[in-house]
Amino acid sequence: MAECSAGMGLAYPSLLNPKTGYFNRKKIMTKKVYRSVPIKPDEVTPKNIYMNRRKFLKGMGLTGLGVLLAGCAPALSPDTAIPEGAPTEDLQDALTDYEAITNYINYYEFTTRKDGVAELAKQFTTDPWSVEVSGLVENPQVFSMDEILDNFSQEERIYRMRCVEGWSMVIPWLGFPLHKLLEEVKPTAEARYVLFETALVPEEMPNAETGMFPFPYLEGLRLDEAMHDLTILATGLYNEPLTPQNGAPIRLVVPWKYGFKSSKSLVRIALVADQPPTLWSTVAPQEYGFYANVNPEVDHPRWSQATERRIGESGRIPTLFMNGYTEEVMPLYEGMDLRINY
Ligand code: MTE
Repeated sequence: MAECSAGMGLAYPSLLNPKTGYFNRKKIMTKKVYRSVPIKPDEVTPKNIYMNRRKFLKGMGLTGLGVLLAGCAPALSPDTAIPEGAPTEDLQDALTDYEAITNYINYYEFTTRKDGVAELAKQFTTDPWSVEVSGLVENPQVFSMDEILDNFSQEERIYRMRCVEGWSMVIPWLGFPLHKLLEEVKPTAEARYVLFETALVPEEMPNAETGMFPFPYLEGLRLDEAMHDLTILATGLYNEPLTPQNGAPIRLVVPWKYGFKSSKSLVRIALVADQPPTLWSTVAPQEYGFYANVNPEVDHPRWSQATERRIGESGRIPTLFMNGYTEEVMPLYEGMDLRINY
């Protein structure tokens, strides 16, 4: 996988819910606390966005919501997390960082150039949009985006994202646990895996039919991984709808796994009996396994996974086992050899 970016595309009127004014703001935030290695306040990329947002929310009379920053970090409190009265220069720096988050992109259906995706994806049609949830389920359904936003309360989850290429970010996603959606369709006893399929729209995705990759982008999880509370379907970040380049209007986020497991722009979720083929494990099975759990002790055949480059910072930092979510997810892998099941 080559290291790959693009323009801001936050204007998403198409996703506005006419009844609630997008994102159902009154039921948007729910507190979630996770015990693994806490994300330090200054680990958030970029922290100054939060300062901006804090000011914005203050304007809306919402700063009492300490939960905004509490996604996975019990140590965080709004007071320590957001330095009030931060200098203006700091805020300017922060805007650059925000650009980085939405411009340093892997979305190969558009291009393999990280800094080229945002521009190419600007016109990507994300409305209307629906997600089919089918396969080994009692109650198959096709959910429109409006139904998804109406029926599943959005909460903020601050997660690290570690790409298999050796870079990382910390992203405040908006979304909801995938298990809530799966509970609606009722997986049958035969269902053991979940397949995720990304949109494939050749007329809008310049790299879709070049033959470089066997699209559609397919990914998969074991059912218990998919049902884990850390696994979310994200519909926004930084309290804004997802940009097309980040996977609008809805994408998967599995924070303890390498970023390639987190499929963008989902159109189909299928419950299946057997481990499904995935794009990367088809293209290069010896390099990209089905599990793809972040593991500093298991190197990629062509590079070490011991450290990572945090986007926006200099130098490298140690990579955390399971990306810092060990306590939550280790029960999923009891008795498994993680070197074999990479
Ligand atoms: N999903 C699709 N459909 N196509 C892709 O190329 N790239 C993956 C993942 N999801 C990809 C995808 C990879 S390699 C990574 S690291 C993350 O998306 C990057 O997410 P981001 O660009 O929002 O940071």
